[in-house]
Amino acid sequence: MKPIIFSGMQATGVPSLGNYVGAVKNWVELQKDYSCLFCVVDMHSITIRHDPAEFRKKCRELLTLYIAMGLNPQEHIVYFQSHVPAHAELAWILNCFTYMGELSRMTQFKDKSKKNEDNINAGLFTYPVLQAADILLFNTKLVPIGDDQKQHLELCRDIAVRFNKIYGDIFVVPDAYIPPVGAKIKSLQEPTKKMSKSETANLNNVIHLLDPPDVIIKKFKRAVTDSLNKIEYNPEEQPGVSNLLTIYACATNQTMQQCLAEFANTTSYGNFKLKVGGAVVAMLEPLQKRYHELIADTAYIDEIIANNAERANQLAQTTLTKVKNAIGFMPKSQ
Ligand code: TRP
Repeated sequence: MKPIIFSGMQATGVPSLGNYVGAVKNWVELQKDYSCLFCVVDMHSITIRHDPAEFRKKCRELLTLYIAMGLNPQEHIVYFQSHVPAHAELAWILNCFTYMGELSRMTQFKDKSKKNEDNINAGLFTYPVLQAADILLFNTKLVPIGDDQKQHLELCRDIAVRFNKIYGDIFVVPDAYIPPVGAKIKSLQEPTKKMSKSETANLNNVIHLLDPPDVIIKKFKRAVTDSLNKIEYNPEEQPGVSNLLTIYACATNQTMQQCLAEFANTTSYGNFKLKVGGAVVAMLEPLQKRYHELIADTAYIDEIIANNAERANQLAQTTLTKVKNAIGFMPKSQ
């Protein structure tokens, strides 16, 4: 039995180049050594309001994009959180083992409450408990996450340890998985901030994975650089150029040194930006082609959705039954 990896993503906004090279590309590699679950966490998404038809479409697109990016729904599990009721059941139970004080300290809750002052619902508050349930349901050993989710994972560990102290070894206590080379892609216009898929104010900041080639090139042409006219990797003094170099290294699978050597004699930022844009187009082309084929094949995707939900449900039931027994819920008579 291989150790288990669980990761989830919300279907808000089309995933960005940052999500791909910073996260999903690593997940694809991890599939070799781990048993993986990749979840579209649609239940987390309803802490804010969505148009139902639009929301459904976005969720299906994300699951399809997962597969187009190389997540394997035959050997691993790619599914919707809302198709596995055990997430909600375990979340309720874990709510009773989580303190108001702990949840009040979550920085994401504080940030999101500021952003949604008119809708600070209880779901927003208990969001990290549902996330803990996601992880603990599957005996997850490792959780690949970015810095912004570390606090949530810490809480998940605390809840698991607390529960185990009372009821014995029920949950596996998970660790964060920090990728060996964590490429952090920054915004193209404000290269000191991260490239965010939820960006709506200025779309030139972010490359979406389904942006057509001409749009990608245009965005790179507009990318912010500096007036130093040299191509060096120095995120402090040349954040824009350094970000473009990181992107180029990822897109061409080269080391930073190789990239720097390649651009040693390039003085024009214009040419440099075009090369980076071209490399990104080339990297995304097969992924986009596969995505468009898959999204057109409704029957195939439907079958994957049903089959993967079924397998996730089976695994989740095993843990949930253990938990219910441990707590003392009445077993169902056969
Ligand atoms: N909260 C995570 C985010 O916003 C998404 C998420 C939900 C998640 N459940 C998870 C991530 C479980 C890792 C494991 O990015």
